[in-house]
Amino acid sequence: MNTAASLEVRDLRVGYGSLEVLHGLSLNVQPGEIVSLIGANGAGKSTLLNAISGVVPVRGGHVLLDGKDIRALKAPDVARAGLRQVPEGRRVFADLTVEDNLLLGGYGTTTHHQRGERLEEIFDLFPRLKERRWQPGGTLSGGEQQMLAIGRALVASPRLLMLDEPSMGLAPLVTRDVFALIGRLRNELGIGILLVEQNARAALKMSDRTYVLTLGEIQQHGTSADLLRDPKVLAAFLGEETAPN
Ligand SMILES: Nc1ncnc2c1ncn2[C@@H]1O[C@H](COP(=O)(O)OP(=O)(O)OP(=O)(O)O)[C@@H](O)[C@H]1O
Ligand SMILES: [Mg+2]
Repeated sequence: MNTAASLEVRDLRVGYGSLEVLHGLSLNVQPGEIVSLIGANGAGKSTLLNAISGVVPVRGGHVLLDGKDIRALKAPDVARAGLRQVPEGRRVFADLTVEDNLLLGGYGTTTHHQRGERLEEIFDLFPRLKERRWQPGGTLSGGEQQMLAIGRALVASPRLLMLDEPSMGLAPLVTRDVFALIGRLRNELGIGILLVEQNARAALKMSDRTYVLTLGEIQQHGTSADLLRDPKVLAAFLGEETAPN
């Protein structure tokens, strides 16, 4: 039985060639907690998730899953350890059915029997996907594709989930549905969720804590409720001027 795991990133340095993108970044996510990471285009948000997932090599620092250093693991082994990422842009296989897209999420980490069981649980969570289980993934709406991408990560019973801009390209009402679902996942599975978002207001409203990433460094960190009232955050991310005195 998989149990929820904590994630701790310490002094992480990551780069591409001569470019260093993350300059010693630290953050943590506890079981049952939704933590958001907000920051502008190019700040290094996807780089962080890809480094944690073992897709991009780490140059320095530590990545601890339940206290165990997974920094040197390759991507399939990170997934096997229970850390799952829903990638930016969803990457649904357009020609495969909804069901086959979901099953793919469990290959290499689950048995055929386990995948079958998980599939039914995921269809309970996402009735829309069940109705469309034989439809090609590419014909789903943007919101349905996001649910499919999340469902694919859940097939492997993750111990911690990382989502890269799940609201990207979605209308506000659909974003609300996707975020409500993320809240349900936390409540029902009890796992920690690291949520990367450019939609700062929505991320701050639905998360417990928030880290603000600016040019590869954590500039601010606190409870999301506090940051929602912070004039610097309001001005930089929410497009609001501070009230004149
Ligand atoms: N494979 C790569 N090779 C070289 N540079 C890269 C690579 N991937 C990302 N970068 C650079 O690293 C920096 C951070 O990119 P990253 O994708 O992590 O930003 P982001 O915060 O996710 O941005 P966005 O909000 O646009 O998704 C950018 O300057 C980008 O050009
Ligand atoms: Mg990104």
